Amino acid sequence: MRKVALPTLLAAGIAAAAITTSSQAFAYGEGDFFTRVGVAKVDPKSDNGEILGGVDVNVDSETNFAFTLGYRFHDKMGVELLAALPFKHDLQVEGVTDGSTKHLPPTLTLQYYPLGGTDARVQPYIGAGINYTRFSDEKTDIGASLELDDSWGAAGQVGVDLLIDDNWALNAAAWYIDIDADAKVGGADAGTVEIDPVVVMAGISYRF
Ligand code: NI
Repeated sequence: MRKVALPTLLAAGIAAAAITTSSQAFAYGEGDFFTRVGVAKVDPKSDNGEILGGVDVNVDSETNFAFTLGYRFHDKMGVELLAALPFKHDLQVEGVTDGSTKHLPPTLTLQYYPLGGTDARVQPYIGAGINYTRFSDEKTDIGASLELDDSWGAAGQVGVDLLIDDNWALNAAAWYIDIDADAKVGGADAGTVEIDPVVVMAGISYRF
């Protein structure tokens, strides 16, 4: 135990000293790596399209943990990848079946920070980019299988960091994502499910 504890303490001390030293004049901007962690609600639009030649589809909202990874390659510009645990959505094909699907919605955005590089404690940003959504575990109450094809679509983003110190900030962010998935029921093309969710996330940012 002792043999492990001392080097660990030393390493922690050196790391703490390094962080303290490097945090001097640590502007919010170029060179920052950052991660944002929080609770995200994926809220599909209210009308999710029709399949099977005119049957309404509803996809319910779902909340889960999500996180992002990003890098600021310029004081005012950055890139961010939204990742998450799989979201499971209940869905209804009205009058036909209830079901559910899981999806992972990785979304990559190019971002603009109008106040990047300044001392402002409130740092808003906007972004635009692309989303790739892969569905899995589609289930229905009836015998027929439901399959949703992978979807590529555009995404937009707004967010704000409220800086606490050189590393930590409170964060709120929202994405609009265009997710249109071709559906197959019982192996036959059945139409397109339009999920097009707004994703709202609240949590913390950490940059280094
Ligand atoms: Ni759409």
